[in-house]
Amino acid sequence: MNKEKIFLSGVGGMLGEAFYQVFSKNYEVKCTDIDVNEKWLEYLDFRDSKEYASQVEKFNPNYLFHIGAFTDLEYCEQNKKDTFDTNTESVKTAVTISNKLNLPLLYISTAGIFDGLKDYYDESDTPKPMGIYAQSKYDAEKFVMENSKQFLICRAGWMMGGGPKKDKKFIQKLMKQLKDGKKEIFVVDDKFGTPTYTHDFAKNVQLLIENKNFGLYNMVCEGNTSRYEVAEEVLKILELQNKIKLTKVNSDYFSKIYFAKRPTCENLINKELNKKNLNLMRPWKVTLKEYLKNSYSLYL
Ligand SMILES: NC(=O)c1ccc[n+]([C@@H]2O[C@H](COP(=O)([O-])OP(=O)(O)OC[C@H]3O[C@@H](n4cnc5c(N)ncnc54)[C@H](OP(=O)(O)O)[C@@H]3O)[C@@H](O)[C@H]2O)c1
Repeated sequence: MNKEKIFLSGVGGMLGEAFYQVFSKNYEVKCTDIDVNEKWLEYLDFRDSKEYASQVEKFNPNYLFHIGAFTDLEYCEQNKKDTFDTNTESVKTAVTISNKLNLPLLYISTAGIFDGLKDYYDESDTPKPMGIYAQSKYDAEKFVMENSKQFLICRAGWMMGGGPKKDKKFIQKLMKQLKDGKKEIFVVDDKFGTPTYTHDFAKNVQLLIENKNFGLYNMVCEGNTSRYEVAEEVLKILELQNKIKLTKVNSDYFSKIYFAKRPTCENLINKELNKKNLNLMRPWKVTLKEYLKNSYSLYL
């Protein structure tokens, strides 16, 4: 039997690595990015709407996965037009292409679209973006919901994945400090969220696709936590808790480097996945251990 085909755009980063590993097993995939950093990637700048449409039409897939975005909140804050072109306008193009070809569209959203005033957010809560990145992602999410004929929107939390080469986020920032020989690490204890392991996320998307369950889903690992507790757990897994001093600070400590506004609380609940009995997301401590073991064992 012929394999189903998926066109993926913006898969050269953290999440893309997991999507390639998971989906290339059972599907014929065409993986694209503006940064061709793997043999399995081909060049596409998804802001080029004509070229985007032409590549998708030529591949003639069963699904369109629009994965990439600018994810550096500080860059986004300082480059508003570039951010909306990349994170919002390109998604509108993806909606147009997928509607024309009758393809289900996958769009990745974020826990960062909420105002952070509640303790938890499920799919019925109304987003209230606090910065340019969040606004660009939410505008795209709304556009997909209002205009796509068939869509799957999955919202991720604090992403863990990609390993030393691709991880641009918290775990890599910690690991780099350890690699650089830092003996004291400063971590905020006033930001709360739900870690999201990229491989669990990709597998859960696959389950939804296989079951033809479309719509809007929060998709984060089980258990909510703080940045400080994540750092504490990293040291525990690496058996460094007695060798490295972890110092609690509040967000003001980093306000010059991380000047973009961030919600205090980004805890998501996978209410829809649970309701449909389709939640594959494991507890964050289990996936953190697996991530460090698989991706960082040679690094330390
Ligand atoms: N990272 C998180 O914590 C997080 C949390 C929630 C949701 N998300 C969402 O998850 C998705 C995947 O994010 P990620 O963490 O994998 O980010 P990532 O590691 O930055 O990967 C995104 C990829 O998209 C590429 N890209 C940017 N502009 C492009 C363009 N015009 N055409 C084609 N490719 C382009 C990037 O290339 P460059 O590196 O050259 O820019 C990068 O390779 C995004 O939609 C993001 O908003 C991320």
